[in-house]
Amino acid sequence: MQTKHVVNIGNSQDLNNIDNNSVNLIVTSPPYPMIEMWDEVFSSMNPAIAEALDNENGVEAYNLMNMELNKVWDEVDRVLVSGGITCINIGDATRKIGDSFQLYSNHSKIINYFEKMGYQVLPDILWRKQSNKPNKFMGSGMLPPNAYVTLEHEYILIFRKDGNRQFKKQEEKEKRRTSAYFWEERNKWFSDVWEDVKGTSQKLDNKELRNRNGAYPFELAYRLINMYSVKGDTVLDPFLGTGTTIIASIASGRNSIGYEIDPNFKDFIINGILESKNNSNNYIFDRINNHISFVNNRIVEKGPLKHTSNTYNFDVMTGQEKELSFSKIDKIFEENDTIIAEYEPISAKDIGSTANVEDTAGDKDTKKKKKTKQMTL
Ligand SMILES: C[S@@+](CC[C@H](N)C(=O)[O-])C[C@H]1O[C@@H](n2cnc3c(N)ncnc32)[C@H](O)[C@@H]1O
Repeated sequence: MQTKHVVNIGNSQDLNNIDNNSVNLIVTSPPYPMIEMWDEVFSSMNPAIAEALDNENGVEAYNLMNMELNKVWDEVDRVLVSGGITCINIGDATRKIGDSFQLYSNHSKIINYFEKMGYQVLPDILWRKQSNKPNKFMGSGMLPPNAYVTLEHEYILIFRKDGNRQFKKQEEKEKRRTSAYFWEERNKWFSDVWEDVKGTSQKLDNKELRNRNGAYPFELAYRLINMYSVKGDTVLDPFLGTGTTIIASIASGRNSIGYEIDPNFKDFIINGILESKNNSNNYIFDRINNHISFVNNRIVEKGPLKHTSNTYNFDVMTGQEKELSFSKIDKIFEENDTIIAEYEPISAKDIGSTANVEDTAGDKDTKKKKKTKQMTL
């Protein structure tokens, strides 16, 4: 199996290399309007934004910045297939302009725009980003009523184009089943508050790039890709930044395309992708090992599970997980401006044998129960 990945350096207000109705999923995080680090990028798209900020007209700047994002959402709409999904990680902003402090609610602007475009708005996810800065609280300190709540969450907005995706052909149904996730992952991933996804540390050496990124964690992109697409699909990130979405797409067996306006990111993005194999494979093995631990604990606590995987020698909670299969990345290389990833299936043999282990739940009548050994790397 092979997947293909393309990094475009350019403005995603014009996704000129992408055909209409050709992308299955968008996973992205734009520059956040009214967060100071992005003022320059927005002002370069429309000088009236710099003027509004200079004139201390915060609301005007906020409206104009969101209008620049809307041009990208129009393009996203053009390239997304019917039944395709758009996931947008966005934070609101609080800012004092002149004497006026207020919230700039970016997430509501984006929801309104997708509603206008006719999308179904699906339940969103709050991603809790903890801040431990000592001066994180603003306003009148311990004196009511002019103190301000600190924003420690971001949104992942989720929109669907034209209703449910259909899987009619046998081949499509099979791909969907092999792309399943585990029951216990579903319970975590489809919760509306993600507390366990930590913000990413800024590992860039280049100071300018370090100030200008705003990367989200691999785990965030990986979950969304696995929740809302199937293997072999194409994922687009119109605000690629450091390339996290492409790295997570490779780890998930999806094709991907990214657009990044800042040419200084190019080498960093490409090198990051080419060097991502080991971390991604470790992440995949962790998923399998976490499942094996889950199953083993469950056997001890509640007895054998009802279903067994058709591919691996471990049990699963539901019939929907029986065809679930994993591949590991064998190679990632560049060929004619395209990055290619090649995979090898992870087989039952790779995961290890089953062993009989004493039940420790204290149930005297329980027979020895089958437990699966964790796989080693
Ligand atoms: C919040 S960052 C994305 C970070 C990314 N999710 C990651 O994990 O690294 C937004 C990125 O979008 C880029 N950008 C801003 N406007 C753009 C545009 N119109 N077209 C393409 N890229 C743009 C910025 O340079 C920045 O790198």
